Amino acid sequence: MATPPRGQLRLLTCGSVDDGKSTLIGRLLHECGAIADDTRDTLARDSRRLGTTGDAPDFALLLDGLEAEREQGITIDVAYRHFATARRSFIVADCPGHAQHTRNMATGASNAELAVILVDARRGVLAQTRLHAAICALLGIRDMVLAVNKIDLVMFDQDVFERIAADFRTFAAGLALRSLAAIPVAARSGDNLATRSPHLAWYAGPTLLGYLETVEVAEDAAAPFRLPVQWVNRPNPDFRGLSGTVAGGAVGLGDGVVIAGTAMASTVARILGPDGDVERAAVGEAVTVCLADDLDVARGDMLSAPADRPAFADQFAAHVLWMDAAALLPGRQYALRMGTAWTTASVTAIRHRMDVTTREQQAARALALNEIGFCHLATARPLAFDAYAANRRTGAFILVDRTTNQTVGCGMVAYPLHRAGNVHREAYPVDQAARAAALGQRPMVLWFTGLSGAGKSTIAKLVEQALHGAGRHTYSLDGDNLRHGLNRDLGFTAQDRVENIRRVAEVARLMADAGLIVLCSFISPFRAERQMVRDMLPEGAFVEIFVDTPLAVCAARDAKGLYAGALRGEIPNFTGISSPYEPPEAADLVLDGAGGAPEVLAARVVEVVERYQKK
Ligand code: ADX
Repeated sequence: MATPPRGQLRLLTCGSVDDGKSTLIGRLLHECGAIADDTRDTLARDSRRLGTTGDAPDFALLLDGLEAEREQGITIDVAYRHFATARRSFIVADCPGHAQHTRNMATGASNAELAVILVDARRGVLAQTRLHAAICALLGIRDMVLAVNKIDLVMFDQDVFERIAADFRTFAAGLALRSLAAIPVAARSGDNLATRSPHLAWYAGPTLLGYLETVEVAEDAAAPFRLPVQWVNRPNPDFRGLSGTVAGGAVGLGDGVVIAGTAMASTVARILGPDGDVERAAVGEAVTVCLADDLDVARGDMLSAPADRPAFADQFAAHVLWMDAAALLPGRQYALRMGTAWTTASVTAIRHRMDVTTREQQAARALALNEIGFCHLATARPLAFDAYAANRRTGAFILVDRTTNQTVGCGMVAYPLHRAGNVHREAYPVDQAARAAALGQRPMVLWFTGLSGAGKSTIAKLVEQALHGAGRHTYSLDGDNLRHGLNRDLGFTAQDRVENIRRVAEVARLMADAGLIVLCSFISPFRAERQMVRDMLPEGAFVEIFVDTPLAVCAARDAKGLYAGALRGEIPNFTGISSPYEPPEAADLVLDGAGGAPEVLAARVVEVVERYQKK
């Protein structure tokens, strides 16, 4: 007799399009009586109407709540299904097979304990099978089932099954799995799903359902207590509770706790669950905790066990799964959410990219859609976290595009990088205000953006002359000059341009800190980086000046002879021709570079500067 399994299993199914995933899940629901009678009638009617399976019901239709899928025959979102047998209940995350939808897959995998990886017996293990399995492993799934489906379509051939199973086992050897079972099934006819198949006499193992009913998946280890604070609940002066979902271990009345990353400690005075006071709260439970002392705690802080604290750092190493069509570029800033904390972050280095099909480590300067990289990240402020291997809830994060608000990546922390702790900011007695006062001006950054040949430098030179003549202290930075020195190692790929602007921004900030009015003339083709510079400076001190000259005019001027070369295809990644330019959506000043004389345009910039100086 097998030991009685846990009450519930959260599983994830992954497969490529047409592997029969929807049919498999539909059939499991059907076998377990999870389909209501009225649904069964609709199913029979729809199956006949769509003619997908002759007169027999098409179980795939069960899952196709979305019209789009019915019409296109593809699954486009994660759906959670519940079914139960006498032994166990199941929650299935049904994830789409499309490569573009790793986003949904990652969502499903982060909540699942076990993954059913589906392959078509006729096609075997595909690149996508490996990608899905690798993502599952990366997201902490340690138990997998390889369901070799449509075994009926290869005449229930044992050799085919064994070959596919061996193929997958070889690949999975690198995934550090705890359990892996390979099971032949025919989802459409139900062979070896819930009942043993007479056609699979050579197969001695359990049915798929039988296996899922009995497989032992790991309990969360007795982890140290973690409570990321969701909000500070203060309905009246007498009550102050810290609300959130316990993300690790458990806490009881009277337990000592600390605020991660600080010296603040207290004891638990009260715990409120959904139904009132409780003595204890464990992982997964939403609670409000009241402390004996009135500590200064905010959303995003983490309460933890005093003896076993999380890391607290602003740099860490992590695996990042990139899920956006626009590549991840080191140096670009993204919004990062870790637990209840939000901050900005950038990838400071891609240590390597992982080829999921071979598990090889490759050098990479960017991450494309569906690529997995081992990265170093830096956050704008330190965060409390654990290694993902130790705690899946406190060691995971997402990256969000700051302009589109789309989730573009997910990450699993490997370890903290303790640089922040060792490198301190030095404070100097003479500060920016003192330097600016000595120079008698308000420091600012005038940022000229536009195509090559738009007239950025020409206008900037005139502005600088005028300001200098008026007694202002200035400095000019431009692409052509900096690319001879500080940025000599950078070319014109998207990632190099991001790094170019990142360095320029740091230099401009230092110069503004020195009290100067800094004029920057860079194509700076991406909104994200221009926004980054803006965010680095006080309100009003950054002036984005769009020198708006049509491409045709720039190309006709062709002062440096570059456009001719670019149009002949001799200069790769040329802005406006083979590399994009994202015009500003809300520039502080737009200059018509084809319309006015440079002197007139420069005068408008000087006006803006003088207005700011008088404020
Ligand atoms: S940026 O895109 O990274 O901001 P930056 O302003 O520093 O560019 O440099 C642009 C200058 O480099 C152009 O004015 C031009 O003289 C030169 N250049 C050489 N190759 C290219 C290219 N492929 N695209 C754009 N500019 C180029």
